[in-house]
Amino acid sequence: MTASPTNAELPALLADAIAATITPTATDSAMIDRLLGDLRNLSCRPAPPQSRDRHSGDPPASISRYLPSLAAAMPSTPAATALQPLFDRVDWYQIFDGADIPGNLATGLVAGQIIGGRGLLTSGDLYLGLFLLAPKVTYPLHQHASLEIYCVLSGAVSIRHGRAKPAQRIQAGGHSVTPPHQVHELQTGDEACLIAYIWTGDLTGENWWWEEQPDGSWDRVCWQRQADSSWKVTHREPLSPAEIARSGDK
Ligand SMILES: [Fe+2]
Repeated sequence: MTASPTNAELPALLADAIAATITPTATDSAMIDRLLGDLRNLSCRPAPPQSRDRHSGDPPASISRYLPSLAAAMPSTPAATALQPLFDRVDWYQIFDGADIPGNLATGLVAGQIIGGRGLLTSGDLYLGLFLLAPKVTYPLHQHASLEIYCVLSGAVSIRHGRAKPAQRIQAGGHSVTPPHQVHELQTGDEACLIAYIWTGDLTGENWWWEEQPDGSWDRVCWQRQADSSWKVTHREPLSPAEIARSGDK
């Protein structure tokens, strides 16, 4: 089976492939039904040629460094079979940019959108793509209004849903669902990780990172999605009790 990025049937093909790959749990099966239902029924169109020109150029260095070995080690699953033909076709880009980006997050978090504002197929209603994390990267606690699923294709990642919660390690074939506004953190160990992600629901372009301050209080910092789907810091505010209450932190 070869997935065509210009094929209007791609969303349904990917929904079927992901459904055949992951095993829902009692707590996430309704959210997965919604995610895959939204994907299966999605109406999208091929990206205009000029958008390809705008993003042409060398992919981030993490792609040449980690993607070949991740692809070689990737277990054969329906999702992997459907997505692998797109690895060379997506426009890989560094997700976070600017002076505020800490440590190796700038170079260590790379995405290639398949469906979305920067995708091979254009949609403003749902985003689907590939997400590569380099080794030893911590994508700090953050929250967003969209419903999100991560399907691990190769490697492994640990994810925790709250400041005091234990991390859960997810290996290839596994998945994690994050409800809207749920605070969550990703961390890789000695190996890189390749993930397929889907965002649906409220795609408001704000991604709030939680930051502990020297006095022990917490701020949340707003990363705003830019027109090219990268993110930049726009403002910060104290983390309020109301925000903590809806974040699933406790
Ligand atoms: Fe997220």
